[in-house]
Amino acid sequence: MKTIRRRTAVLLLMLTVLLPASARERQNFDKGWRFILADSAVMAKPDYDDGHWRQLNVPHDWAIEGDFSAGNPSGAGGGALPGGVGWYRKEFRIANSELLKENKAFVLRRSELLKLEFDGVYMNSTVYVNGQQVGYRPYGYSSFEYDITPYVHEGDNVVAVRVDNSDQPNSRWYSGCGIYRHVWLTKVHPVHVKHWGTHVQTEMLMYKGDVLIDVELENPNGVKAQVRHSLLDRQGRVVARSKGLHSKMEVKRPFSWGIDHPYVYNVRTEVLVGGRVVDTYDTPTAFRRFRFDPETGFSLNGERIKLNGVCEHHDFGCLGAALSEDAMHRKLTKLKTMGVNAIRSSHNPPAPELLNMCDTMGLIVMDESFDMWRRRKTQNDYARFFDEWHERDLADLVLRDRNHPCILMWSIGNEVLEQWSSAEADTLTLEQANLILNAGHDASTLAKEGELSVQSLLTRHLAEIVRRYDTSRPITAGCNEPSPNNHLFKSGAIDIIGFNYHHEWAKNVPKNFPDKPFIFSESVSALQTRGYYMMPSDKVYKAPKEWWLPYTDPTFMCSAYDNMHASWSSTHEEMWDVVKHNDFVGGQFIWTGFDYIGEPTPYGFPARSSYFGIIDLAGFPKDVYYMYQSEWTHDKPVLHLFPHWNWLPGQTIDLWCYYNQADEVELFVNGKSMGTAAKANKAEKALKAPLSLTEGGTTDPQSKASKTVETPSVTVGGAYHVAWRVQFEPGEIKAVSRKDGKVVAEQTICTAGAPHHIRLTVDYAGKDLTFVNAEVVDDQGNLCPWADDQLFFTTDGGAQVVATDNGCQTSMELFTSPNRKAFFGKCMAVVRGKGKLKAQGYNLPSAEINL
Ligand code: GAL
Repeated sequence: MKTIRRRTAVLLLMLTVLLPASARERQNFDKGWRFILADSAVMAKPDYDDGHWRQLNVPHDWAIEGDFSAGNPSGAGGGALPGGVGWYRKEFRIANSELLKENKAFVLRRSELLKLEFDGVYMNSTVYVNGQQVGYRPYGYSSFEYDITPYVHEGDNVVAVRVDNSDQPNSRWYSGCGIYRHVWLTKVHPVHVKHWGTHVQTEMLMYKGDVLIDVELENPNGVKAQVRHSLLDRQGRVVARSKGLHSKMEVKRPFSWGIDHPYVYNVRTEVLVGGRVVDTYDTPTAFRRFRFDPETGFSLNGERIKLNGVCEHHDFGCLGAALSEDAMHRKLTKLKTMGVNAIRSSHNPPAPELLNMCDTMGLIVMDESFDMWRRRKTQNDYARFFDEWHERDLADLVLRDRNHPCILMWSIGNEVLEQWSSAEADTLTLEQANLILNAGHDASTLAKEGELSVQSLLTRHLAEIVRRYDTSRPITAGCNEPSPNNHLFKSGAIDIIGFNYHHEWAKNVPKNFPDKPFIFSESVSALQTRGYYMMPSDKVYKAPKEWWLPYTDPTFMCSAYDNMHASWSSTHEEMWDVVKHNDFVGGQFIWTGFDYIGEPTPYGFPARSSYFGIIDLAGFPKDVYYMYQSEWTHDKPVLHLFPHWNWLPGQTIDLWCYYNQADEVELFVNGKSMGTAAKANKAEKALKAPLSLTEGGTTDPQSKASKTVETPSVTVGGAYHVAWRVQFEPGEIKAVSRKDGKVVAEQTICTAGAPHHIRLTVDYAGKDLTFVNAEVVDDQGNLCPWADDQLFFTTDGGAQVVATDNGCQTSMELFTSPNRKAFFGKCMAVVRGKGKLKAQGYNLPSAEINL
């Protein structure tokens, strides 16, 4: 190996000057891999015969293809899907001259370098080129690049990647397994911009914007090189220029980056040797001013707004962790339409594509690094690598991401057990730790006056790593110990106090943290199954009642009225009330936007995916989606009446309605008015008293409906919804919202008859994938809300069903199966390619849709 390296170095030295220069060439390296779920050292060897391995393209996640099983060591928390060791191999050809260029060949001049870049491999990846190990990376969420120049040769080359996700459990949620993000092969001139080697910072002044550019070059032989930059607007027109490794440009009246008009510029950096461009490197940038203020919360470009954020894990439901730009764009579009303006990449570095999309869609990002530091949360998690790798992983996160305009804060950790100094924390299980540490607020485990503990020093150390590479954004951490003596807070290194939950502690924040801005880094954790309603709806169900108690319910479902949540959390309305009416609260990141695989609190297996989402795993909004839309959007009126209207004769039913842009809503049952209701105005009560338990927003003739049952914290009716308690009779219910007496919006729901046919509609059409919703409806087209027919999807033409889902947290059907039961009337299919999709049931005729 040494000889090869030395020889390459000599060649490089000689040929840098002799051979013609060329610019950077970055190729996507996703296609044409072979894969096997097995393990042997010989699989790294270049002459190993992998002919019997499966052919596939990455991004790929082998776990999503597996069966759910209580026996899978990831546990229900990890989605009850398999782990294991898998290998990927790919051949590529290098021709040494333009003349030899052929289809498969990657042309490499002797002077050039070859870099292989992985956006993410879960986890413990070892990369070999032609049998030689080029690198190892344990953290499954870090992006990394290897210089493979010394390992390649003219002709055929083999890259082999061993992925080891066998030590389980190592995650509190579903991680996926494999090369689950993109791979890139980049050819560069020896004199080039270093990997993630630009740092572009902007400042927006009165009538101009300043752009500060710092560049690091890789130039091993110290060749004389020049660097120049141009700032390109969205149309690609040059609006400013500068020169040098450290330079500044000025732009007159630049467009700003905001939630509604996210204007992104591009800094094009060119490296010149002997007057020729040898490298071109693009960096996105934008002009925005933001501020987190201890009294007034958050502002963007001078306007005070709340961070209406959601936490998101990285999986795409039935598609698993395998990155799909279509699935990601669909997710973000649904969230943006709900009024979401911020995403927390919980609890790890996101895919680069998430940041690209958030840049251009106007979504603010909290970029988070770790779910644990030195103290583990699951048996085999990243804590075992932390000492050796944290510095590299954290630095790489900041270097990779710091130019993205969408990122407005870094998070150095989520609920790390270093918040406390209990010696036991090293040996406690996560459940015990939550019970003893988080629920306890035990003064003996918190920082003492004047003490700077090891935990506080570690916090400082991590914050220093971030600040080494970026000082333009504040640092936060998701903390579930709200005391100011939390060792993380006590370090003084946290710029924004971030509470996870504990909204009842918020009133003391201005006193406890006088000069610090504040956000809820995580909030709510309400529990809901789409389409399932537990009445009476003014009873709040805590599941479990306390941390340490189990929760069982044979339905394995949670109520989709906003009346069920975990013991440490709150309803959506309760939390939003605190955020909305307290100026010092910069905003919140709700747990979670979408359901995700794993962590099926409050249940265990066979539940295998979460109940926390505002949108279910299949992408169907739960009802509370419209509560947020009514509060967070202003473009068109919202009116959402629920639940459905298929009940037993005489059954007492609570009907809720979310609305905006209106003064009141009137409900009709079969044409008879059930009364007009308006939301209660609770603005003045912020934090002085919790949401009143008995005052409702309901007015005559349903005032009896505002009575509470057991220990409610939501009334039937309240500040964010109106409600009626009525007797069921088949027919039709109708909600009419009015402003100043004029009708704003109407919604009608009819009692559905027997399932009659399947309605297929395109939910989202992407470049590669189309998401199609299937609804079981009666002969009039009304959704059958209890339908659970088994549907069978088939395709014609070039289309192929790649996955199906229905949002049911306990479904044991394979995600990759083309068959799926309807769940409360609905399911969906993800289709690749163009052609015809057909769906049919045992008693439902075939329906079809052209894609
Ligand atoms: C938080 C944690 C999240 C998730 C959530 C569920 O404590 O940060 O990752 O576990 O609880 O309520």
